[in-house]
Amino acid sequence: MTIDELKRLAAARAVEHVRDGMKLGLGTGSTAKHFVELLGEKVRAGLNVVGVPTSEATRADAERCGIVLGSLDEIDRLDLTVDGADEIDPHLNLIKGGGGALLREKIVAAASDRMIVIADESKWVGALGRFPLPIEVVPFGLAATRRAIAEVLSADGAAGRLTIRAGKDGHAFVTDGGHWIVDAHLGVIPDAPALAASLASLPGVVEHGLFIGLATTALLAGPAGIRTIERR
Ligand code: A5P
Repeated sequence: MTIDELKRLAAARAVEHVRDGMKLGLGTGSTAKHFVELLGEKVRAGLNVVGVPTSEATRADAERCGIVLGSLDEIDRLDLTVDGADEIDPHLNLIKGGGGALLREKIVAAASDRMIVIADESKWVGALGRFPLPIEVVPFGLAATRRAIAEVLSADGAAGRLTIRAGKDGHAFVTDGGHWIVDAHLGVIPDAPALAASLASLPGVVEHGLFIGLATTALLAGPAGIRTIERR
């Protein structure tokens, strides 16, 4: 099976968790896109759900699939969010934001009773950090914010190279919220919850890609099938 087929397999399993009447957070990325497509098939067959998209890309996909959309302005709590991840550790802490949608993804996940992470098994790691950690920043005062990020990383034993993410046009990648992304190449993060708290305290940092304590279930697809991991 190809990686893409594994992603679709995980997405198909997540669709089985959806019930009629649910309010759903719709993730972003290639795995979440499979979920949106498969959910769309169910909707066209009569399933009644409302989705809150985590990016403009997912909004467009969901609209194309005929999924009714709402927003967190009119919906208090979501029953379930289904989203991909760049890395998943044994505590079901995540690195997200490889697609640049981490801010809305985290807001939506935090407003959900449950979050199912869907991925091929290559995303499973013993400790987070091999995937560059995305940190969403305000362009104003970037040099100062970048220095503060470097200091926090160093203090938390996770020093590494910082790069400004570039878009397809070669200029800085701009998020849906109009911000930029600093990717932190760390290798390993010794204490992800501590680093998450330190980064969140910095002026100029809008959000970061460490999702701590948000995922409740991971569905990991491999050649032998799906492995389900529940957060303890
Ligand atoms: C989007 O910003 C990300 O958080 C994605 O969920 C993550 O990068 C996983 O993407 P893929 O499913 O494309 O690997």
